[in-house]
Parts: sequence; C-alpha cells; structure tokens
Amino acid sequence: MNKPLPIIIDTDPGQDDAVAILLALASPELEVLGITAVAGNVPLALTEKNARKICELAGRPDVKVHAGAIRPMVRSLVTAEEVHGKTGLDGPVLPEPAMTLQDQHAVDYLVETLMARPAGTITLCTLGPLTNIALALVREPRIASRIKQIVAMGGGYFEGGNVTPSAEFNIYVDPHAARLVFEAGIPLTLIPLDCTHQALTTAKRVEAFRAMNNKSGPATAAMLDFFERFDENKYGTDGGPLHDPCVVAWLLQPELFEGKLVNVSVECESELTMGMTVVDWWRVTKRAPNATVLRNVNAEGFFRLLTERISKLP
Ligand code: BDR
Ligand code: CA
Repeated sequence: MNKPLPIIIDTDPGQDDAVAILLALASPELEVLGITAVAGNVPLALTEKNARKICELAGRPDVKVHAGAIRPMVRSLVTAEEVHGKTGLDGPVLPEPAMTLQDQHAVDYLVETLMARPAGTITLCTLGPLTNIALALVREPRIASRIKQIVAMGGGYFEGGNVTPSAEFNIYVDPHAARLVFEAGIPLTLIPLDCTHQALTTAKRVEAFRAMNNKSGPATAAMLDFFERFDENKYGTDGGPLHDPCVVAWLLQPELFEGKLVNVSVECESELTMGMTVVDWWRVTKRAPNATVLRNVNAEGFFRLLTERISKLP
C-alpha cells in the first residue's frame, strides 16, 4: 500500500462530524496527524470534548486534539443545538473522555505542523466554520503554499441554504473566514448541500450500523437516530443528510463523486444573503476558478464504504 495521506481534521462535532472522524480513523489510507476543534454546532468547550470522546470510541486516545477559536472572526457565534442537541453529540451514551486536550492552541498547531512538514503534503479536512484555518493563514501566510489541499464541507447553491434561504451553516457562521480561505489560492474541494443532501441516513442504512458487533456501529446508529430527526421533519425524507463524512469519503473514493472546477465567492456584505456561496457553475464571469465543487454523490457506494470501515473499529 502507498504511504498514508497525512490529514488534519478541523471540526465542530456534531454527530456528522463524529462519523467523519470515525471514518478517517478507520481508514489505513489516511494518517490523522491531529484534530483541531472550533466553535460551531455547539461552543468550543463542547466541540473539543466531543472530538476526544470520538477518538476514545475509535480506540485512539493517542490522537492529538487541539482547541481553537472560541468565536468567529467578525460576527457573533451562531450554534445549532436544535439539530445536534445540547451536548452537540446527543444520542449515544459516551463516557467522559480520559484523554487530555493538548495545551497548544489549534492555530499554533496548524502553523507549526504545516511549517515543519514538507510543503505540499498535508491535507486539511474542514467540517465546520473555517475560523481556525483563516486565523492560521493570517498568523502565517506562508502556510498557504504548503497546504496540499483543503477538502471542505460547506456551502450550497442549487439546493439553497439550510440556516437561511441562501446560506449553509458552516459558511454562515464565519463567512469572513470562508472568504479568506477561498481566496488564499489553496487547492480546494468544496462539498456543498447540493451533494450532501443526496447522502441520506435512511432507516435501512442506520440499521446496518446498529447491527454491528462492536461499540462504534451501535454508537453511530444512536448518533444518527438523534441527528436525522430534525432534517426528516424539515425535508420529509427517510433519513437526514450525512454531510461531513463526505469529505473523508472523497479522499478515499473520489470516484463516488462528480463535480466541476469553478469560481466560488462568499457573500459577506448583505445581511439578507450573508454567507451565501455564489457558485459560477456556468462560468458566466471572468472570476478565476478556485474550487472543485462536488454536485453529486453515489449514496449507495458512500454508505457501503462507511459501513465497511466502521465495522472494523472497536
Ligand atoms: C454542516 O453544519 C453542521 O451542522 C454539520 O455538522 C455540517 O458540518 C451542514 O450544514
Ligand atoms: Ca460539522
């Protein structure tokens, strides 16, 4: 096998973030160098703790978890307890983590690691608001040319938004950070709602996790049971969209996805459309392409990959 791809996961767990972390830790093609937590679905004190809970569930208390930004760069923090519950990880009963949080701030960790490792080797998987990544770019602009690529869950265009009619949560929470990151000239793959709304946690797919003979499978099912109820009510679907694991799945099996290299600009001025990702899908402007925007996913293949990998965890 080739050498595993080094990744850093920047995240705000969140049940779907948790499943993405499980998928990464279950995949020998990836080397999780560290996890950086950010405020998003719930405040930072909960997202960093949830990240540690998930590492322990996966039998990986050795993974380094760093806490980062406590709030967005300019705007006030908006959270999503109505989706994820009070803890951000409602559903399963998971023990308080015994593994400790790293002392180093996530932004310092990102800068130090990207400057120390060979240029063009580290992939950033971003599953939440982009505050930590933007702050790292402000702190040390030279990291831009050292990041191999960013694979981000965020945005929505044809599908509209999920927190306002035009904005998706991760971009809406910190649009200024998103704009800075999207304009940094870093190879970017963006996985918007247009794609993730096809990856539904149907009853049959959740049962496959529940039936597993390990801890991680039933815990995943319990997380999804809780997580999907909000979107099932909202969209009237069997299951909810499993957003964040699409990021890790794309690294593992890009052939499951279809997309196009286009320009994406982030609205930061208008209160009405704040955080909208304006995707130049038809290339009607002269704005240079800055992101491969994924529009379709093979949902059956995606859930096959997820169940196969999570069944291998403790
Ligand atoms: C995104 O927002 C969060 O609630 C989810 O974890 C996901 O990252 C979907 O809009
Ligand atoms: Ca998330």
